[in-house]
Amino acid sequence: MTLRVGILGFGGAGQAHASYFACVPGCRVTKVFDAKPAGLARAAELVPAVAACADLERFWPELDAVSVCTPDATHAEYVVAALERGLHVLCEKPLTDSLDGLRKVLAAEARAGRTLAVLHQMRFVLLHRAIKQAVGAGRLGALSYLEGYYVHDLTRRAFEYDSWRREGNATPLVYAGCHFVDLLRWFTGSEIDEVWAASNHLAYPEYPEADLTVATLRFSSGTLGKVLVSLGSAVPQDHAVRLYGSLASIENNVLFDRERGWAGLLHEPVILQRKLLRDPNRANRHDLLSQLRRNLPAWALGKAFGALRLLARRPGAEYGARYYPVRLYEHALACVEAVEDFATAIREGRRPQCTAEEAAKTVLACLAGVESSRTGRPVRVPRLAEAL
Ligand SMILES: NC(=O)c1ccc[n+]([C@@H]2O[C@H](COP(=O)([O-])OP(=O)(O)OC[C@H]3O[C@@H](n4cnc5c(N)ncnc54)[C@H](O)[C@@H]3O)[C@@H](O)[C@H]2O)c1
Repeated sequence: MTLRVGILGFGGAGQAHASYFACVPGCRVTKVFDAKPAGLARAAELVPAVAACADLERFWPELDAVSVCTPDATHAEYVVAALERGLHVLCEKPLTDSLDGLRKVLAAEARAGRTLAVLHQMRFVLLHRAIKQAVGAGRLGALSYLEGYYVHDLTRRAFEYDSWRREGNATPLVYAGCHFVDLLRWFTGSEIDEVWAASNHLAYPEYPEADLTVATLRFSSGTLGKVLVSLGSAVPQDHAVRLYGSLASIENNVLFDRERGWAGLLHEPVILQRKLLRDPNRANRHDLLSQLRRNLPAWALGKAFGALRLLARRPGAEYGARYYPVRLYEHALACVEAVEDFATAIREGRRPQCTAEEAAKTVLACLAGVESSRTGRPVRVPRLAEAL
């Protein structure tokens, strides 16, 4: 049976979700709701076959599921409203931006018995899955440190479709840092006990608050983590990760161990991301030719790196080919995988890979980080049961 999906909010994320759902067989976006005329106009232009609703009473009927793509501070009210109507919900990250929101969402989920998944696509990035597998198999030994970079120059994008990042409490550590706080939690399988964070506001003065945050995380396993969030630095997007273990370590895509030094690559750029070929939005350039043009150079660069590495095998030469040169963040593919997981979870009656409970723990750690950056002190992260 086809899943009839409604999208709430049709800015950058809403438009992207229309494409992601089109790439997942058995899903059909049938309605869009946006609180602003410009959002509805975008929907009428981009997805003309979909009903663009200005009024929620027209939006809710005849749907099986919704995707919540509205500003962070509004997620909780829409998630609760959808669950109360018996709909399954895919919510954009962060699940919500407040303790009060967490309480409302988790209570509504417990009452509804419907699927509620959170789109933390970092868990679906192919490289990250390979890393998770390596950590789970014990290849790294005792994990003492890990870090993730949310470096994304938003100076042209932040206010492109709406002003909520200016007015709606879009604190970077919650809004953007949640990606890597969540990923590092997932990698370790351990809870964050304490966060110590510091922020500044130098690179992007038009942003309403600090645009750069460094957060140090203390996990209950003893592992230390670091997340860097930068929304205004003049540098290309970077989502690199590092994990240091007693037996082996990972830097971006390279596995190092003590015996061999360079011990291999975990992933290579996917030249043809087949699932994206179904994307009807030509502006995304997911057609065959555009994909080949875009992905082949990255793939070739990765291969060249692997081959040149052989020349650098001499002892003492490892610095010559240490840093893998390709950014392996296959964003749209990861998002489609997350949407597919949501649809499959509904069909099979199983839990999605990123549950509300998981996403809620991430929100708690991010909120502690915000408090820490404002007070200058380390802040303990409450356990979920304690916070509710
Ligand atoms: N997973 C990711 O990588 C990713 C990327 C971007 C955004 N997001 C998340 O997606 C959500 C939306 O972000 P965005 O970048 O699309 O924002 P945006 O500014 O591009 O668009 C927001 C849209 O929501 C509409 N809107 C505003 N208030 C509303 C309300 N109360 N009810 C309904 N619609 C409303 C606006 O008119 C606009 O169309 C946020 O939660 C954000 O954190 C996630």
